[in-house]
Amino acid sequence: SISKLITIDGPSGSGKGTVCHVLAKKLNWHLLDSGALYRILAYAALQQKVNLDDKSGLADLALALEVSFVSNGEGVDTLLSGENVGDKLRTEEVGKAASEVASIQEVRSALLARQKAFLQKPGLIADGRDMGTVVFPDAKLKIFLDASAEERAQRRFNQLQGKGFNVSIAQILSEIKERDHRDRNRAVAPLRPADDAFVIDSTTLTVDEVVEQILNLVALKL
Ligand code: C5P
Repeated sequence: SISKLITIDGPSGSGKGTVCHVLAKKLNWHLLDSGALYRILAYAALQQKVNLDDKSGLADLALALEVSFVSNGEGVDTLLSGENVGDKLRTEEVGKAASEVASIQEVRSALLARQKAFLQKPGLIADGRDMGTVVFPDAKLKIFLDASAEERAQRRFNQLQGKGFNVSIAQILSEIKERDHRDRNRAVAPLRPADDAFVIDSTTLTVDEVVEQILNLVALKL
């Protein structure tokens, strides 16, 4: 295939989402937000009352989901069976359920082909936890974007405060640590850098500085 590919994995709050959007826009490439797929599945399961430990029920649901990502000028609308569910996916409830369904092998297998199909010309930015290790192991440029848990909690706090939510930073930090622990220690596709990934620690970097580092790697490796 002549489609170019960058995989960007890392924990939540590492700045991955923003960095991936900026890169996709600058390069004019496609974007796979794989976390959104797990969130959509979790949201659909909660709505349709599919039990979060019903492995085959969740896998069937994952195969049947009618999902599309449609750009709207400013960003991307996430459509589930035609309904714009973007705003409903970012809640703590859905995030937690997403991380639970994501620990099920049958679910991950069911979402694999859907994720691989995003690799199209001229190129793809693949954002997730296992893009470089499982979904696109042959990618020529793999990034692992990290940041300290404290910095990630601070970023999330600023984001939520900006939206007018009254939140406690200690609460956020403990949720981040809990989610990290689950994502890094699960049996299936644990969060870890691929052996051939470039690890970038964004704790003291701005989004633009991270993007610049990655664009330098693009010029070097792709
Ligand atoms: O990145 P985001 O926070 O939207 O992802 C939600 C959850 O989905 C994560 O906590 C993680 O458990 C799971 N996930 C995953 N593999 C991916 C992307 C997300 O397991 N490639």
